[in-house]
Amino acid sequence: MAETKSLKEVYAPYFKIGAAISYYGYQHVSDIICKHFSTVTCENEMKYASVCNENGQYDLSKADQMYAFAMKNGIEMRGHTLMWHNQNHAPVFAGMTKEQILERVTEHMNLMNRHFPDLSCWDVINEVVSDSPDEFLRDTVFKQKFGDDYVRFFYGLARQTMPGKRLVLNDYNEFIPHKRAHILQLAKSMKEEGVIDALGLQAHIRPKLITIDDLKRTFDDYATAGLPLQITELDIGLPDMDDPTPVDQISREEHEKHAEFYGRYFALLREYSELIESVTLWGVSDDMTWLNYFRCRRPCTALLFGRDHQPTPAFEKVIDF
Ligand code: GLA
Repeated sequence: MAETKSLKEVYAPYFKIGAAISYYGYQHVSDIICKHFSTVTCENEMKYASVCNENGQYDLSKADQMYAFAMKNGIEMRGHTLMWHNQNHAPVFAGMTKEQILERVTEHMNLMNRHFPDLSCWDVINEVVSDSPDEFLRDTVFKQKFGDDYVRFFYGLARQTMPGKRLVLNDYNEFIPHKRAHILQLAKSMKEEGVIDALGLQAHIRPKLITIDDLKRTFDDYATAGLPLQITELDIGLPDMDDPTPVDQISREEHEKHAEFYGRYFALLREYSELIESVTLWGVSDDMTWLNYFRCRRPCTALLFGRDHQPTPAFEKVIDF
C-alpha cells in the first residue's frame, strides 16, 4: 500500500471512521483496516440467517473470526443486525406463533450478546420504516404477528436482555423527506421510552438523485431527534446503479465526479460532527462493494480504495482538506 496519512487519525477530532468487512475479503485488506479504521461492521456474518440455520442451530464461526480480528487489533465492532425482514428465514417465523417468535428472538438476543460482549452497539431491527409515503412501518412477519407497536416492543426486549448496550435504529433512504419524517417520529417516541441510544443513517448515496443540500437538510432534521447519529453504510456509487452502460474500467471523469462528491460530503460531515459519532463505509475497496452486483451488475467505484486496494481520488479529497 502506498504511504498515506491514516483516515482514523485525521478524523479523530471529528468522529470514528469505519468500514464493513466481509469474511471472504477482510484478510486481503487487513493492513488497510488496521491503519485506517477505528470501527468495523460485519457486512453479513452476524445477520440471523448467517448465524442460525432453519432448524435453529447456530454456527458463529465466521463472525467469531472477524470479531477476534477486530478485538485483537483494538478496533471497535458494531453489531449488525439482530432482526431484519431480509436474510432471516421469514417462512420459518411465519409458521410460528407469537409466543414461539418471542422465545426465539429472546434466545437470539441473549446468545448474541453473551457471545459478542464487546460490540459497541446493536442495530436491533434493521430498516423498519416503509419507503411508501402512505405506509408507516414496513409490512413484515414481525409486524403481522406483534402489531404496529412491534418496534418499540422488541427494542424494549433488547434493553432488558442486553442492559447497557447501545441500541441503534438503522434505516436507509433517510434523504427522502416523507421517509425521514416517519423515521424521526418513531425515533422520538422510542427515545421517550428510553429504548434507543443512537440513530443510524445508512447513507447509500446516489449523486444522480441526491444533492448536498438534501444531505444537509437530512442532518438538520435528524438533529431534532436529540440523539447521536451514526453513518452506518456509506457508499457513493458511480456509475449509478441503474445505468446499464457496460463498464470495463471506471473513467477518469467518473473518478473525478466521485472524488468531488465525497469531498463535499465529508466537508458536511465535519460541519455536523458534533452530532455524528461514527462514519462507517460499506466496504473497504471497490472490488468488494455490493454495488458491483446490484441492479445493472457492473463494476463501479463506491468507496475510498480501488480494486487494486490503492487509495482512490476520493480518498485524497477526504483526507486532504
Ligand atoms: C442494507 C443492509 C446491509 C446490506 C446492504 C447491501 O443496507 O442494512 O446489511 O445488506 O443493504 O449490501
